[in-house]
Amino acid sequence: MNRNIATIAAALGAALLVAGCATGPTSAELDQQAAAAIKASFRDQGIAKVDRLNQDLGQAACSTGGEIADDVAERVRDEALASVRWPTGGQYFGNWIDGERIAQSGRGMTWTDASAETRNNGGNCYNCHQIDKKELSYGTIGPSLWNYGKLRGITDVTAPTAAPIVHYTWAKLWNSKAYAACSNMPRFGHMKLLDEQQIRHIMSLLLDPRSPVNQ
Ligand code: HEC
Repeated sequence: MNRNIATIAAALGAALLVAGCATGPTSAELDQQAAAAIKASFRDQGIAKVDRLNQDLGQAACSTGGEIADDVAERVRDEALASVRWPTGGQYFGNWIDGERIAQSGRGMTWTDASAETRNNGGNCYNCHQIDKKELSYGTIGPSLWNYGKLRGITDVTAPTAAPIVHYTWAKLWNSKAYAACSNMPRFGHMKLLDEQQIRHIMSLLLDPRSPVNQ
C-alpha cells in the first residue's frame, strides 16, 4: 500500500515537473489562481460579504510588492481627493469626548454585527497612532498625533474656519489615499466605516484646543 502511494507520488511529481518545464504558468496566471483560491476560501456571512476582497485601483496598484508608478499614484490620489464628502453646512467639529471614545474603539464590521450602521463602528486610531498621552497602549504604524492641533497653531474651532489644516485633516480622515496613494490608514468616510458626525468628533479630538490632545 505504502509502496503504491510512493509510486503514484513519484509519477505525479515527474508529470508535474515535465508539465512545469513545458508550459509553466505565467505570473499573471499564478496571480489569478491565487486570487481564485483566496476567494474560494471565504463566504458571505452576516454583514461581512466576499465583495470585500474586490480591489479598487489603489489597492491593486499597491499590492504588487513593487513600486507604484508615478502616474498611477497621482490618479489614485486625485480620485481619492475627489471622493471626499465635505461636511454638511461647513460644520467640521463635534466634541472631543466622543472623539476619544471613537478613537479608542476598534470594534465594528464583523459578521456578528447586526447591521452595517457606521455608528456602531470605532476608528481604531490608537492601533496605529499615539493620540492622548494618557493612553499608554498604542501602535506606531502612523505618526504620533499628540498635540496635533497645538503644533499647528489652532486656537479656536468654534467659528467656521477655512484653515488649510482643517480641510487637510477632514480629507485625510475621509479618504487617506488623497495624500498618500498607498496609505495604510483606513478610508473612514469613503469606505463607510465612520459617518460624518463621528468624523466631526474625531476632528475635535485632534484640533480643539480644549481637547486633552492639545494640552
Ligand atoms: C492601520 C493604521 C492606521 C489607523 C487604524 C489609523 N491611521 Fe492615521 N495614519 C496612518 C499612517 C501610516 C499615516 C501616515 C500617512 C499615510 O501613510 O497615510 C497616518 C496619518 C494620519 C494623519 C495625518 C498626520 C499628519 O501629520 O499629516 C492623521 C490626522 C491621522 N492619521 C489620523 C487618524 C485617526 C484620527 C485615526 C482613527 C479614526 C487613524 N488615523 C487611524 C495609519 C493609521
